[in-house]
Amino acid sequence: MSEPYVLVLYYSRHGATREMARHIAQGVERAGLEARLRTVPAVSADCEATAPDIPERGDLYASLDDLAGCAGLVLGSPTRFGNMAAAMKYFLDGTTALWLNGALIDKPAAVFTSTGSLHGGQESTLLTMMLPLLHHGMVMVGLPYSEPALSATRTGGTPYGASHWAGSDSSQQVSDDELRLCQALGERVARWALKAR
Ligand SMILES: Cc1cc2nc3c(=O)[nH]c(=O)nc-3n(C[C@H](O)[C@H](O)[C@H](O)COP(=O)(O)O)c2cc1C
Repeated sequence: MSEPYVLVLYYSRHGATREMARHIAQGVERAGLEARLRTVPAVSADCEATAPDIPERGDLYASLDDLAGCAGLVLGSPTRFGNMAAAMKYFLDGTTALWLNGALIDKPAAVFTSTGSLHGGQESTLLTMMLPLLHHGMVMVGLPYSEPALSATRTGGTPYGASHWAGSDSSQQVSDDELRLCQALGERVARWALKAR
């Protein structure tokens, strides 16, 4: 059997959510588990368009086996009109086989997002990203207020998951508080994944 890992699965168009994923992976590894970073291909209005099996750069695309085999999941997407991006929803809509055989039941999961504006839907995105994971029987993990950054932050960071305010031109770096909360979220999912084994 392969070593346990936490799947950090994200979609990112401009890189902000990808940067958060890196910090979350550090938290996972700090808790003693491998972090497997995977992304999903963009979807296109042109039904003829297909992405190559292997992306030209960056993390590999996730397979259903990556998801089925994980000990825990941290799922990230940019906010699009207050919700997750279509690319991530499309990937999740293809996971019926895993739902049918209960592959994700009782595994810990958490969510993260990046937005252009501070009040542009971080919390609605995080809460709605939880819904398919709850249908899969996953156990949601959030961020407790024992994390000092949750009260101190002047940018992103919520009890529902990690978040980042990238700014309307995506120029804002992940702040120190956002970074601490990304790492704490990864660490928490990894700790629960180890307990659940
Ligand atoms: C179609 C579309 C819809 C968006 N909707 C929102 C939104 O509802 N609220 C918000 O704050 N930002 C919104 N944004 C901005 C992105 O959430 C923001 O740029 C994010 O940081 C991108 O993450 P990425 O760098 O990982 O791609 C939207 C962007 C696009 C392209």
